Amino acid sequence: MNLEGKICLITGATSGIGKETARALASMGAHIILPARNLERAERVKADILQTTPRAAIEIMECELASFASITSFVQSFKARYSNLHILINNAGLIETKRKLSRDGIEMTFAVNHLAPFLLTKLLLDTIQRSTPARIINVSSEAHHSTTINFDDIEGKKHYNGWRAYAQSKLANILFTRHLAIMLQGTGISVNCLHPGVVATDLFDVIPAPFNFLIKLFMISPAKGAETTIYLASSPEVEGITGEYFDKKKIAIPSIVARDADIAARLWQLSEQYVVSLF
Ligand SMILES: NC(=O)c1ccc[n+]([C@@H]2O[C@H](COP(=O)([O-])OP(=O)(O)OC[C@H]3O[C@@H](n4cnc5c(N)ncnc54)[C@H](OP(=O)(O)O)[C@@H]3O)[C@@H](O)[C@H]2O)c1
Repeated sequence: MNLEGKICLITGATSGIGKETARALASMGAHIILPARNLERAERVKADILQTTPRAAIEIMECELASFASITSFVQSFKARYSNLHILINNAGLIETKRKLSRDGIEMTFAVNHLAPFLLTKLLLDTIQRSTPARIINVSSEAHHSTTINFDDIEGKKHYNGWRAYAQSKLANILFTRHLAIMLQGTGISVNCLHPGVVATDLFDVIPAPFNFLIKLFMISPAKGAETTIYLASSPEVEGITGEYFDKKKIAIPSIVARDADIAARLWQLSEQYVVSLF
């Protein structure tokens, strides 16, 4: 697939699935924007990709997804340099075993895995709209099946469980995808999400060392885990498909909650309230 002339923004590309997604899309000729909080790590990734694709066009820009101010400032810098965005991949994610807060005082998993892509996408929508046909891809997980959205305690203030918070955030990724796809119907922007597989990445570094090493032996590689994201970003086969959840490059059925339009609308409204002061 030739992606020459396409501007592609990938969050969380300093390791794991995002890094391999960036490598593959750069090799297809896309101009890659790599927002990162750890600039040294991002430079190492860029150097590594340049080894496999010497002509890769990669620009690193600073962005801490646990901060609304940093996301807003990143978008301002991005828009000052680029007037188009053809492919937005919301890939960054984390698991926090202990409850932590973002710079805005919001529970970290909810802030980074859901509110950050929500805000980033909203702020970039006008640029994406100028770049149609365009694609938005959100990296979710099969973990979403295990939970619902706890509107009474969405930040786990009363009771926090790291896995539950992660699963809830991945469910939020699907609800966000489906609601946004409806809003963008007929605009030439498609929005899809996916499960990448169970992939041996740093995501599982929260699990203690010997066990972590052992379970990774049974997981797929980051390159394999990036395949569905790459497919959604580049394949002509998915042109015009929107609002879907993919697994192994095929449309899959997410949980009943993930398909509930009322829950999606309620989550959207709540997410708006978190970021309203920024608009
Ligand atoms: N691995 C799996 O089995 C699996 C399964 C289902 C879904 N997923 C999803 O796949 C996506 C990618 O995860 P991965 O497995 O590739 O994990 P990973 O190797 O740990 O990569 C996570 C990426 O997110 C970035 N990130 C985390 N917090 C950030 C923040 N506050 N600001 C900016 N960047 C931040 C990390 O940047 P730093 O380098 O700065 O830490 C890193 O680049 C996630 O959304 C995850 O939920 C993974």
